[in-house]
Parts: sequence; C-alpha cells; structure tokens
Amino acid sequence: MERIELSPFQVARETLEVMLKTGLLMVTVDEKGKPNAMTIGWGFIGYIWTKPVFIVAVRPSRYTYTLVEKTGDFTVNVPVKGMEKAVELCGTVSGRDVDKFKECNFTPIASKYVKAPIIGECAIGFECRAMYKQDLISEALTKEVVSLCYPKGDYHRLYFGEILRVTAYRNYRELIL
Ligand SMILES: Cc1cc2nc3c(=O)[nH]c(=O)nc-3n(C[C@H](O)[C@H](O)[C@H](O)COP(=O)(O)O)c2cc1C
Repeated sequence: MERIELSPFQVARETLEVMLKTGLLMVTVDEKGKPNAMTIGWGFIGYIWTKPVFIVAVRPSRYTYTLVEKTGDFTVNVPVKGMEKAVELCGTVSGRDVDKFKECNFTPIASKYVKAPIIGECAIGFECRAMYKQDLISEALTKEVVSLCYPKGDYHRLYFGEILRVTAYRNYRELIL
C-alpha cells in the first residue's frame, strides 16, 4: 500500500488519542542497523525553535535510551487495530533480551531522514531527530509526582525530536486503534 506525506499537525489529534488509548511505538536502531520498538504512553507534539517537534520521555533503564543516545534519532509509529498484543509486548519486554521486530512480525521500512526505520504495519510514522535533551530535575517536580512516578529515581530524559517527515496510509483514520 502506498504511503503519503502529511503535516505533523494533520495527524496530531489521532496520534495522541491512540497514545492515550493503547500507546505508540518508538523505534530506535543499533549500530548494526537492528531496530527495536518500545511502547510509549507519554509524549507531546508541538512547535518550538521554528520546528515541529515530537517530545518523548524515556527512562534511562530502557534499552531504547541506550540506542537513542548513540544515534540521536528515532521514529514514532501509530499502531492499527489488531496490534494490541504487539503493543503490549513492546511495553513489557526489553530489546536487550528479545528481538521484538521478529517476535511481532514487524516490517522495517527505511526512513528518508533518520537511521531508525518506521514500522510498515503502523498507520502513521514520524521521523524524528533529537535536537534537545533534558533530564527531569527532581527538585523541580511536585512531591506528588515524585512519589507517584519516581519512587526509585529513574527520572525520564526528555528528547525533543524535530519531526522531519510524516508518512501515513491514505486510509489511516480507518486503520488506527
Ligand atoms: C502503555 C505503556 C506505555 C509506556 N510508556 C513509556 C514511556 O513513555 N517511556 C518509557 O520510558 N517507558 C514506557 N513504557 C515502558 C517501556 O515500554 C518498557 O519498559 C519496555 O519494555 C522498554 O523496552 P526497551 O528496553 O526495549 O527499550 C510504557 C509501557 C507501556 C505498557
């Protein structure tokens, strides 16, 4: 099926709705070109420094963190109906232990601007290059958030990914979860 290019803001609402419902799939790649997918439930699509950005929050314990630190890029993919099991798997096992692309039968499709591929089975794919990163500072958070989300430390690192390209299947609205 042919993919079309769209503006990030045309698909922002649908993307965030799926993120809240089931999660999105963030893809990174190792130095040999092997991709890894991780489920993300928190993120922002916005505009800063004259660029459209996808901000993701990654804990240092994730294999994804190691990979994005090495390559500086990632993709964010919007899953379709029928991918619920795959989203669950990508959110519970680590790419250090399991080849999640193989396990989920994901087809990697080369991105145009970044090393990380998009997932062929997903309805929408964002190609992002990290232009800024920032660790959350515990002193700047409310006590409530610290005790709720960071009882063990492991504060997220925020990656501001410049959105370089968005591709989608023409009928993405009918496909998504
Ligand atoms: C619905 C859902 C949302 C998640 N959101 C995030 C997130 O935004 N950031 C994060 O660091 N981990 C998040 N996780 C946890 C990771 O997906 C999980 O730890 C995963 O196994 C890490 O994979 P990796 O080690 O291959 O990177 C989420 C998990 C689920 C199930």
